[in-house]
Amino acid sequence: MNHFETLFQPMPLGRGGVTLPNRLLMGPMTLNQATDSGHITPWIVDWYRRRAEGGIGAIIGAAVFVSQGGRGWANAVGIADDSYTEGWARCVAAAHAQGALFGTQLFHGGAASKVALLGQQPVSASEWTREGFDPARALTGDEIEQIIADFAAGARRSLEAGCDFVELHGAHGYLLHQFWRQDVNRRTDQWGDPVAFPVAVTRAVREAIGPDVPLLYRFSIHADAPDAPNHPVTPESLRTFLEALEGAGVDVWDISCWRESRRGYFGTEVFLPDWVQRFSNKPRIVAGNLLTPEEGAAYLEEGHAEAIALARALISDAAWANKARRGESAAIRPFSEEDRQAINRGIDPGA
Ligand SMILES: Cc1cc2nc3c(=O)[nH]c(=O)nc-3n(C[C@H](O)[C@H](O)[C@H](O)COP(=O)(O)O)c2cc1C
Repeated sequence: MNHFETLFQPMPLGRGGVTLPNRLLMGPMTLNQATDSGHITPWIVDWYRRRAEGGIGAIIGAAVFVSQGGRGWANAVGIADDSYTEGWARCVAAAHAQGALFGTQLFHGGAASKVALLGQQPVSASEWTREGFDPARALTGDEIEQIIADFAAGARRSLEAGCDFVELHGAHGYLLHQFWRQDVNRRTDQWGDPVAFPVAVTRAVREAIGPDVPLLYRFSIHADAPDAPNHPVTPESLRTFLEALEGAGVDVWDISCWRESRRGYFGTEVFLPDWVQRFSNKPRIVAGNLLTPEEGAAYLEEGHAEAIALARALISDAAWANKARRGESAAIRPFSEEDRQAINRGIDPGA
């Protein structure tokens, strides 16, 4: 019987002696079950508790807005002032009671928002309208400084809540990513350098959390084909980005591949995490369509990642990890779109 030993080896998480009990993290998932103000509800605590009970080694909490102007969705979670800290402390305690680590994913949606949600116009690096959202205006220099401070304050609150690590959400076209994207960031001031804002946020967060707390950075790539319009990411620009962020204090990459963790990037057959390894020797967590223990273990054994982040698989089965460890892969309830929809009705389909 296959007990997927590869998935159950402990791993140092960057620094501070923090150790992942196994190679399985729950990736961040926004489920819109918070209060209207973005405070944690008992539903959310129970959601995390069940995944920790189910044997996952660490939980990356959902994208959490660090500024009120950075909200992306109704009933998504926040950490924008001290009133939010206590709720996160309950999430952390639920994870710790089962031996799982917990960290927040600090987030600002930037242009991925609407006036109806924010009560004001969304903001971005430059004027930009993201498809499906309202037109965003360019941030002023002072506003950028304030958002950097908001990320740092969110990191401080995460530690006050007991988090073992923090992650920056630099992926999926949200504010950190908007600055990196040269088709969005057309600024002519100091923030026009595509890595300047991600680096400034990373530095500020590193300063807030001190030298002993692991800092994860999630990123994704919006365009990597040589003929892609709007300044595709190239191997050279990826290298610049990774080196700058590493210098600013990132310990671990959380590489978001969506459904494409087995696709070659930059016109080659080399997967994205293997490109990352060429430029950085930091550990790689990879997220993207690794739904079964067989797929997850193979990905690690082939050397594409040091750990994997599961999202949809854990919607449908909170006990995924324990079943894998017992060699009961066939007993795992597979992800279905119906399960994801059930969450909107307040049901936890993986319970
Ligand atoms: C319901 C749902 C909510 C998500 N919310 C977030 C989020 O808040 N932050 C983030 O970085 N990714 C988010 N993602 C992306 C997942 O973390 C993950 O990267 C993606 O689903 C691919 O992994 P999977 O194939 O294991 O689902 C979300 C995905 C789903 C399905």
